[in-house]
Amino acid sequence: MIAYQHCKNRRQSTMVINFSCSASTKLTWILALLLILVTTIQVHGQSTTDGFVNIDCGFTNSSAYIDSTLKIPYRFDGELVDGGLSNEILKEFMAGAGNEQQKTLRSFPDGSRNCYTLPSTIGQKYLLRAMFTYGNYDRLNRTMGGSLFRFGLHIGVNFWEAVNLTNTDPSSTIWKEVLTVAPGNNLSVCLINFGTGTPFVSSLELRPLQDTMYPFVNTSVSISYFNRIRFGNVTDPITRYPTDDYDRFWESWPRTSYAWINLDTDKKVERLPGDSAFNVPSTIFQKASTIDMNISSTSIIVAAGPNLDTKSLQLLPIFHFADISNSSLSRRFDIYSAEGLLFPDFSPLRFQMDSKYKIGHFLQNADVFFTLNKTSSSRLPPLINALEVYSLVRMDNLTTDSGDGKINLHTAHALHICHV
Ligand SMILES: *[C@@H]1O[C@H](CO)[C@@H](O)[C@H](O)[C@H]1NC(C)=O
Ligand SMILES: *[C@@H]1O[C@H](CO)[C@@H](O)[C@H](O)[C@H]1NC(C)=O
Ligand SMILES: *[C@@H]1O[C@H](CO)[C@@H](O)[C@H](O)[C@H]1NC(C)=O
Ligand SMILES: *[C@@H]1O[C@H](CO)[C@@H](O)[C@H](O)[C@H]1NC(C)=O
Ligand SMILES: *[C@@H]1O[C@H](CO)[C@@H](O)[C@H](O)[C@H]1NC(C)=O
Ligand SMILES: *[C@@H]1O[C@H](CO)[C@@H](O)[C@H](O)[C@H]1NC(C)=O
Ligand SMILES: *[C@@H]1O[C@H](CO)[C@@H](O)[C@H](O)[C@H]1NC(C)=O
Ligand SMILES: *[C@@H]1O[C@H](CO)[C@@H](O)[C@H](O)[C@H]1NC(C)=O
Ligand SMILES: *[C@@H]1O[C@H](CO)[C@@H](O)[C@H](O)[C@H]1NC(C)=O
Ligand SMILES: *[C@@H]1O[C@H](CO)[C@@H](O)[C@H](O)[C@H]1NC(C)=O
Repeated sequence: MIAYQHCKNRRQSTMVINFSCSASTKLTWILALLLILVTTIQVHGQSTTDGFVNIDCGFTNSSAYIDSTLKIPYRFDGELVDGGLSNEILKEFMAGAGNEQQKTLRSFPDGSRNCYTLPSTIGQKYLLRAMFTYGNYDRLNRTMGGSLFRFGLHIGVNFWEAVNLTNTDPSSTIWKEVLTVAPGNNLSVCLINFGTGTPFVSSLELRPLQDTMYPFVNTSVSISYFNRIRFGNVTDPITRYPTDDYDRFWESWPRTSYAWINLDTDKKVERLPGDSAFNVPSTIFQKASTIDMNISSTSIIVAAGPNLDTKSLQLLPIFHFADISNSSLSRRFDIYSAEGLLFPDFSPLRFQMDSKYKIGHFLQNADVFFTLNKTSSSRLPPLINALEVYSLVRMDNLTTDSGDGKINLHTAHALHICHV
């Protein structure tokens, strides 16, 4: 769940513009997805979903069904997990459910560790996503009851992340994603009972990635989703499959106030030969955000919300750029993190994708912000098309001996952006 908050004036600066966007707790992207589908379904063959594993947890009919927006089959979880109980969210939350899979869930009142075994290919890189919609299924008002409601997720025997649903609206949906390498021909995802509420899960999705993608992900290093944003005037709150072959969730957020300028192009943005580290869809590069000519710097602040314990997080940013303006004037800027200069004197290529990241370099600041600062020789202000931020998940435990490690706690978070 994402909450948008006011910016703080973090640095002495000449101009600060605050954004206040209402927190949207319901996933209302069904309609948006339908629109994407209409325009792009024809260009995607069935083959792009080969290897997709689509599980509707707690669904009781053993026949698969076709998801109405994604047009891909989802099936029940009966064969992939031992134990647990099938439940439905309460009727009052059904209509607002973000998708069909959020209407049912499997809860695990018994046992401290319950695992799903998902089919995988040894050595293959995957995106694994788990989604959670409480919907007051147990009529216990657990999220709003005033006490801690938090459980853990393991990937195999390694701690992945905590799910902290304390004080969240029962209708809200949160998701967790990890990019990981399958250690065998199955991948286990486990729900860990911390003694602070019955663990549950609404859906599980596995999307194979190409080996070349996210080159810093290997058998000992996985990365967990912290934020994935696309810039520009994007109406869909979430862009996913079929726009993105790998079904990554790209969030947009409205920037209509002064100083932001949205750029848009119909012209194809090319991928440099041999560049297959991220395979970000061209559609995402065809939109960008820049700022007014007479402002030289913009900050992107990715801050933790109250449900996210960031103390031990180590974050890895990936910036995606393509200059899609018609101007041939120079556009050069420095990219800073809170720790200092990350990429000096960067100049986005015209109508060509360029992604900036540092292999193995994780930022230690829990309160992360990035600054794009126009250089003195530049004629045009900074621009950005997309940003991904991940947290490090260590996959050091190779044995089957299970521990309830409490490293890397990370759940719902907030994001805010401001100009300086
Ligand atoms: C299960 O789904 C199939 C196919 O959609 C349907 O024909 C059948 O009636 C369903 N069974 C139950 C018990 O709902
Ligand atoms: C849930 O608990 C909160 C806090 O005790 C209370 O304000 C709210 O009315 C409860 N909601 C329901 C549906 O019981
Ligand atoms: C999962 O894979 C491991 C190693 O590849 C194997 O030992 C184990 O039996 C498999 N488990 C299931 C349930 O298939
Ligand atoms: C965003 O795009 C929509 C149409 O796609 C348009 O109606 C709207 O005016 C645009 N908003 C801004 C701020 O550019
Ligand atoms: C910024 O640019 C606008 C025109 O785009 C101009 O009207 C305004 O005076 C400028 N502001 C400053 C502080 O230079
Ligand atoms: C869980 O979320 C609640 C509500 O925001 C917060 O008070 C609490 O500190 C969080 N717990 C952890 C361990 O992050
Ligand atoms: C850029 O140039 C193309 C072709 O010359 C034109 O169709 C398009 O409207 C221009 N875009 C902007 C943002 O000026
Ligand atoms: C995994 O990648 C990290 C850097 O991201 C590297 O330090 C480590 O040696 C790699 N491990 C393996 C098993 O390749
Ligand atoms: C950005 O540039 C301005 C002036 O060019 C400078 O004062 C400021 O310190 C720079 N910001 C960072 C984060 O270095
Ligand atoms: C590895 O296992 C140990 C003991 O079971 C546990 O304490 C530790 O947290 C685990 N490490 C990770 C990264 O999950």
